Amino acid sequence: MVLSFAFGIGWSTTSSCFAKEISKSTQEEWKLPVPRKKSRVSLEKALNLRRSSKEGFSSKELKEKEIGQILWAARGVNRPTGKLTSPSAMARYSVSVYVATEKGTFLYIPENHSLLSISNRDIRKGIGTQEYVKTAPVILIFVADFSKLSEFSMTRKISFVSAEAGAIGENVYLQCAALKLGTCFVASVDKEFVKRELSFKKDIDPLFIMPIGHSR
Ligand SMILES: Cc1cc2nc3c(=O)[nH]c(=O)nc-3n(C[C@H](O)[C@H](O)[C@H](O)COP(=O)(O)O)c2cc1C
Repeated sequence: MVLSFAFGIGWSTTSSCFAKEISKSTQEEWKLPVPRKKSRVSLEKALNLRRSSKEGFSSKELKEKEIGQILWAARGVNRPTGKLTSPSAMARYSVSVYVATEKGTFLYIPENHSLLSISNRDIRKGIGTQEYVKTAPVILIFVADFSKLSEFSMTRKISFVSAEAGAIGENVYLQCAALKLGTCFVASVDKEFVKRELSFKKDIDPLFIMPIGHSR
């Protein structure tokens, strides 16, 4: 059963620390704060600030509103049609965004702007093979569902989902730049570890990751 609750009920405030707040929740689906659609950072400024941060991350946690904002930028709904901030081959939405945190791993649900609990375990140290990735408070995992592209050859499937993940990744880079957070698009993923930990079936493949945090 999936339970959801409105933002603002009880404990949830826009400045709260994500890891602390989510640990208080017994809900399976966590509604994120409404994302901002305006800011003082221009697109040009965000482009100028965009970079890969590989120096590692400080222990400072991310705020719930920061995580919500980044997920909306990555894969949120931006039109009444229900279409998203990043494009998708034939609008199949074959790439989903998972969020690995200290309190477990969650699946971002664009239509509800919410996080669905997938696992209670902290898998952050095993996802990436590079040491700096393991210091991130949050790691996004871009996961392909090849079954949504069943009529295509594997070569085309891979090109579609890679392009889709790349578009999501650039949105994450720009939103992180605007929020003064560090991130990096990373292909060095221990795929077998992620598949095992998150009980992914055949056809479900973790493609890339993006560690996010305050750069050291
Ligand atoms: C497809 C792709 C895969 C990447 N994989 C990794 C990776 O596994 N580890 C890493 O530290 N950086 C990775 N990067 C980040 C690049 O190293 C980085 O973008 C490049 O050095 C240019 O730096 P910049 O992003 O700051 O401009 C990857 C980037 C792309 C586009």
